[in-house]
Amino acid sequence: MRKTTLSKLKKLYREGEKIAAMTAYDASFAHWVSDAGMDVILVGDSLGMVVQGHDTTLPVSLDEMVYHTKMVQRGNQQAWCIADLPFMADATVDNALEASARLMKQAGANMVKLEGGRRVLPIVEALSDLGIPVCGHLGLLPQSVEKFGYHVKGKDRNSADRLLEEALALQEAGIEMLVLECVPSVLAAEITCKLSIPVIGIGSGQQVSGQVLVLHDVLGLTVGKTPKFSKNFLQESASVQAAINAYVAAVKNGSFPDASHEVG
Ligand code: KIV
Repeated sequence: MRKTTLSKLKKLYREGEKIAAMTAYDASFAHWVSDAGMDVILVGDSLGMVVQGHDTTLPVSLDEMVYHTKMVQRGNQQAWCIADLPFMADATVDNALEASARLMKQAGANMVKLEGGRRVLPIVEALSDLGIPVCGHLGLLPQSVEKFGYHVKGKDRNSADRLLEEALALQEAGIEMLVLECVPSVLAAEITCKLSIPVIGIGSGQQVSGQVLVLHDVLGLTVGKTPKFSKNFLQESASVQAAINAYVAAVKNGSFPDASHEVG
C-alpha cells in the first residue's frame, strides 16, 4: 500500500470520499489499524486516559508523546500520522515549535494537532510558515476540561458563531485539517460547508469530511462509560482486524455515525 500523503487526503476531501481516522498508541495496533486501510492514525493524548489510566489527558508529557508516536510509526505502513501536542507544549510559540520538531524529527509524525481557537493562531502561523502541517481541534477541548468540563460546545447561537469564526481564523492561519469534537451536527455541517479543508468529526454528526474514534472505544476496551457518540465494532465482528475493517467501511459508506450517536 502506498503511503498516505496530505495531497491524497485533500484529493479524498475534494472527491467527497469520507476520511477514516482512528487513534493508536503502539506498533501492534498501528499495524492493524493501518492494514485496515485507515487514512489517518492519530496518536492522541487520549493515551493518558486509555493507556496510562489517568482521569484526564493533562498529565501526558511531550516525552511520552514522542515515545508513543515512535512506536506507532514502526507499525504503521501507510496511514498519515498525526501526533497531539500535549497540554502546555503549546503554551508559547517557541515551546510549540520545539515540541513539533521533536514529534516530527525524532518520532516521525506527519502532522501535529493542537487544541484551541484564537489563542493558538500565532502558533499555527509559525508552524505552518515552517512547512509543518497542522491540524486544529475545536469544540470540546479535553486539555481545558478543568475549566470548561466535558460538554457539547456551540449549542447556542453566540457560541456557535464563535466556533465558526475560530474555525475560519484557524484555516486562515494555516491549518490543513480540523477536528471538531462534540459539536451539534447542524453546526458541524455549517462549519464543514464554510471551510475548504477536511473537517474530521468526533461526536459531531454525519455531515463532516470524516470521522475519528478512540481505538479503545471501537474495540470495547474502554474502562467505565463509553461516550454515546462512539461504537463498539468488535461486538459485531469476529476479530480485532474485522472490527477495525468494519469501522473503516462504515465511515466510508456513511453508515457511521447514525442518529443514535448524536450528542448535540
Ligand atoms: O486525543 C485524542 O484521542 C483526540 C481525539 C479525541 C480527537 O484528540
